[in-house]
Amino acid sequence: MKIQTINLDKGGGGKSSHAYNQAWWLATEKNKRVLLIDGARECNLSHSFDVTSEKTIYDIFQTGEYEGHL
Ligand SMILES: Nc1ncnc2c1ncn2[C@@H]1O[C@H](COP(=O)(O)OP(=O)(O)OP(=O)(O)O)[C@@H](O)[C@H]1O
Ligand SMILES: [Mg+2]
Repeated sequence: MKIQTINLDKGGGGKSSHAYNQAWWLATEKNKRVLLIDGARECNLSHSFDVTSEKTIYDIFQTGEYEGHL
């Protein structure tokens, strides 16, 4: 298992694009199981994968509840 974080102290630097492309490549080309955790307020990464859940990462930390997305 590998854990990777993406951070850059600048808006529009390519964090979401990189996360999306790398996750997609790992899942489709390398046949890896990928868990993306979108901690950004604007949820661009979630929207890129058409995730429209009501629950947020806040709910996981508060109650452990989450909505799955396959
Ligand atoms: N679908 C798209 N079509 C064209 N340009 C895009 C698209 N998505 C992002 N971009 C551009 O690519 C660059 C990187 O965007 P990206 O959203 O990956 O950055 P980010 O670091 O995640 O930004 P933020 O800090 O706002 O979360 C930006 O200049 C953005 O305008
Ligand atoms: Mg972003």
